[in-house]
Amino acid sequence: MKTLKVAIIGFGSVGKGVLKVLAGSSSTYDDVKFKVVAITDSRGAVLDDNGLDLEQVLKQKNNGDLKRVDKKSLDVIRDCDYDILVEVTPTDARTGEPGLTYIAEALKRGKSVVTSNKGPVALKYKELCELAKKNNGLFLFEATVGGAMPVFNLLRMPLAGNKVTNIMGIFNGTCNYILTRMANEDLPYDMVLSEAKELGIAEADPTYDVEGIDTALKIVILANAVFGMDVSLKDVDTVGISSVSLEALKLASQSGMVIKLIGEVHPNGEERVLKVSPRLVPKNHPLAVQGTLNAALIQTKLAGDIFVVGKGAGSIETASAILSDMLYIASRK
Ligand SMILES: NC(=O)c1ccc[n+]([C@@H]2O[C@H](COP(=O)([O-])OP(=O)(O)OC[C@H]3O[C@@H](n4cnc5c(N)ncnc54)[C@H](OP(=O)(O)O)[C@@H]3O)[C@@H](O)[C@H]2O)c1
Repeated sequence: MKTLKVAIIGFGSVGKGVLKVLAGSSSTYDDVKFKVVAITDSRGAVLDDNGLDLEQVLKQKNNGDLKRVDKKSLDVIRDCDYDILVEVTPTDARTGEPGLTYIAEALKRGKSVVTSNKGPVALKYKELCELAKKNNGLFLFEATVGGAMPVFNLLRMPLAGNKVTNIMGIFNGTCNYILTRMANEDLPYDMVLSEAKELGIAEADPTYDVEGIDTALKIVILANAVFGMDVSLKDVDTVGISSVSLEALKLASQSGMVIKLIGEVHPNGEERVLKVSPRLVPKNHPLAVQGTLNAALIQTKLAGDIFVVGKGAGSIETASAILSDMLYIASRK
């Protein structure tokens, strides 16, 4: 049995999901055991080099009486003994911080890093991969695109050896939820958006989602990580869903179509496509998924078209993608 020490930076929805998943399995998977030795949030750290009691730490965090020590996340990353850093702090698309510094510091120490944070991957993919390579660590980010829906892991193993020619899909559950309810229930955009906020499906400030920025970040990550491009958010032609009218949805429906917010990346030279926009999709097309689901159509040279559908967000679902990255790292150690 090999034991890997884990430090988790960020103890919100995803951080708690990772702890729940590890606690539920006694942190053991076949011949691998994960020992969580550190967890931090914006207020401090909880540390135990012999392995934290995950149930207890979760209970304390939920009750608001977490027994933190006064140590900053960056100090934990620089000083503690761990093998894998799980970085799950909030996404900042403009600076990538604080995650960017956290990830870089861990990689400089030769640690492997798993993140669900889109900012650092979209902004500094190449630099972070080079840092990982130079220091013999791994840098993995399955959860950044499509939550639980596998994309990078799918390409790494089941589709290994395939040349990918195009990726298009629905990468934002909030937008898909809004468009689905508008179309199915004939409800106006503002009303569905307010309800989505009440249900916690949309953020209090939903700009990132509805203006297509979140989907564009994922297109940047796919472009750089799958197609070896060197692009940023400004290279993605981005239109969100705020101007999609009920009238447009009705007209689409009369022609057997739905309107979906589609992100697409296609690498071919002059014809390069990097775009996010509301597009017509036939009702019976596999990408016409409902509600908060995400879906991707991956076009490949050998395997042809591959579709994946899954939950793009959620505490446990996102933890599932993080766990798969952690197990991949364990398999390479
Ligand atoms: N939620 C999802 O379903 C989902 C899906 C895919 C990807 N993601 C991405 O995963 C990341 C985490 O999402 P989340 O939903 O878990 O966010 P969240 O609930 O807001 O939690 C963020 C955590 O980070 C901590 N934090 C904030 N600033 C920090 C700092 N400077 N240093 C250390 N810790 C800090 C917060 O501390 P406090 O607890 O003290 O506030 C909190 O524990 C984000 O980048 C998000 O975009 C989320």
